[in-house]
Amino acid sequence: MRIEDIRATVKGRLGREILFYETVDSTNTIAADLAEKNPEGTVILADCQKKGRGRLGRHWLSPGGVNIYMSVILRPDVEPKDTTLVTLMAAVACTLALRRVTGILITIKWPNDLMASGKKIGGILTEMKTAGTRVISVVIGVGINVNGDRDSFPEEIRGIATSVKNETGKQASRETIIAEILNEINRLYPLIERTAGRDRLLSEWKNLTSTLGKQVIVITGQETLSGYAESIDDEGLLLLRLPSGELKSISSGDLTILR
Ligand code: BTN
Repeated sequence: MRIEDIRATVKGRLGREILFYETVDSTNTIAADLAEKNPEGTVILADCQKKGRGRLGRHWLSPGGVNIYMSVILRPDVEPKDTTLVTLMAAVACTLALRRVTGILITIKWPNDLMASGKKIGGILTEMKTAGTRVISVVIGVGINVNGDRDSFPEEIRGIATSVKNETGKQASRETIIAEILNEINRLYPLIERTAGRDRLLSEWKNLTSTLGKQVIVITGQETLSGYAESIDDEGLLLLRLPSGELKSISSGDLTILR
């Protein structure tokens, strides 16, 4: 990966410092270790991950040389409950950057799956350290399938996963996508600390999602719920209208769109 190309394109404070590794267990683990001593906006990139992590304790397939595995260290001045907004911010940043660079109509499936033609093209894993009501650091981990062929996915996920190359038939520059994501993060991150900014961020997320206005099933840690995905609230929780008429807010889970 040509880190110099990324450095030359990133404008702004976040993404100035980039640490690149050929192979790591997980960029999120490295970022978590550095989160208190390195400057805010430090980026950890790897070409390959041995123990890539996904949401809900899943494994994130991370073959070498083709995809994006990136973690960004942030220290937002917000309460722990507001870190969902940081994840939504990252999803907006990745979606806009990917749309611009690849032309693919990427949409966001709540809370932060990046989707193309109904399949997952990328995901975001946010991990934070807190002390009481204070957030010490937040690590945003971004995984995007870029130049892998359809055949590079194991059989069992071919029906649910895709890559940029799979969608467009062409290779894309990982460096350009990364730089554009970092430029978007520089633009969007300041919105999190102000109320008016949050409204703008939520409205950008709503413009890019394919989840709202659909019948969905959500599997949370405790239960499986089906209903109508009505909206998200000020903190980014999903507002699900149940068949009983009750409006339920959901903080995390695995969502399937029915229609
Ligand atoms: C998801 O389950 O959708 C989230 C996937 C997040 C994967 C990325 S790859 C870079 C960073 N390091 C990890 O171990 N996970 C995240």
